[in-house]
Amino acid sequence: MDNKKNLLIIGYGGMGSWHAERALKSDVVRLVGIYDIKPERRALAEQKGIKAYASREEALSDPSVEMVTVAVPNDMHEEIVIDALNHGKNALSEKPVTLSMDSLERMFGAAEKNHKVFSVHQNRRWDVDYLAMKQVSESGEIGQVINLESRIHGSRGIPSDWRGIKQYGGGMLYDWGVHLIDQALMILGWDPVSVMCRFDHITNQEVDDGFKLFLDYKDGRNAFIEVGTLNFLPMPRFYMRCRNGTALIRDWRENCQIAKCTHWHESEVLPVETAAGLTKTMAPRDSVTLDTYEIARPSSDVHDYYRNFCKVIDGKAELCVSHDQMRKVLQVILAAFRSVETGRPEPLV
Ligand SMILES: NC(=O)c1ccc[n+]([C@@H]2O[C@H](COP(=O)([O-])OP(=O)(O)OC[C@H]3O[C@@H](n4cnc5c(N)ncnc54)[C@H](O)[C@@H]3O)[C@@H](O)[C@H]2O)c1
Repeated sequence: MDNKKNLLIIGYGGMGSWHAERALKSDVVRLVGIYDIKPERRALAEQKGIKAYASREEALSDPSVEMVTVAVPNDMHEEIVIDALNHGKNALSEKPVTLSMDSLERMFGAAEKNHKVFSVHQNRRWDVDYLAMKQVSESGEIGQVINLESRIHGSRGIPSDWRGIKQYGGGMLYDWGVHLIDQALMILGWDPVSVMCRFDHITNQEVDDGFKLFLDYKDGRNAFIEVGTLNFLPMPRFYMRCRNGTALIRDWRENCQIAKCTHWHESEVLPVETAAGLTKTMAPRDSVTLDTYEIARPSSDVHDYYRNFCKVIDGKAELCVSHDQMRKVLQVILAAFRSVETGRPEPLV
């Protein structure tokens, strides 16, 4: 007998199926079944040979289930996570973990009361584009980070499902913002002092279909995070200015390009001539003072998320996505909503 943990998935839609497929290949969890409120989703699971429980109660009452992944629309995470914890199961919520600070504290309270493990799925910590930026920042090879720009641009508007409806926790700040904020905090640190945000409402008036967000630090460093759903020409995925160079990833399938300044002073700068004048200030550097190269793509295995969660259940590790980090990401999101209302930066204390 292996020591895999028995996993139940609640919500077998797009992301629930993703979890199921990975669980079937996992070395740490065994998929025992799913529950979805829609009969057609349960039937689909059964067609694929996955057990579908007839009700949430039946699923959560199965004594063999050790952990539950909750992959339902955002407004339902709290209720189902707490139900799972109260049934004595460890619970893993899809992102965003929930929609208010009180709600998050109720979820932590239920985990504590039942002595169970609870965390959120921040799977984009395993994206290689983000990992490359983090590696450049941590290595210091082009000096201290001054600012990080992180963008996701699509051109199909916001999806027409629950993501476009406020009551379900729709909107791009919750959907993509939660990933990009978490990544920025992992790179720049967990102590930003303020956030400023503006929403787009181009294809959807009810929720944001894109946003621009500034995250500021006490020492002047900052992150600019942008999600757009009406960008037919996307801007680069990552652009990071550091004291001695710049790191760029144009597209998340491409390598990280580095331009490293080897000598600050130049002997002779050739001016660039444009239609209306000359500029030396903005002229590109040549290879005498600038070294340009690509870095190898970092290795990454998204199964490490479940590996960590299972080790925590066994008391052999700390959560890689800690409760304090979950609090901070939600705090930034909620302050961003306030900033949209006030039109000003909102403090993060
Ligand atoms: N981490 C990621 O990369 C990532 C990617 C996509 C979605 N998500 C998250 O996963 C969650 C689900 O998103 P999705 O894209 O799979 O949505 P989806 O609409 O494709 O699937 C949601 C499923 O939940 C079911 N459901 C709704 N209420 C339920 C209930 N009370 N009990 C049981 N089942 C219920 C629906 O019938 C549906 O099948 C969201 O929180 C979303 O933010 C995360």
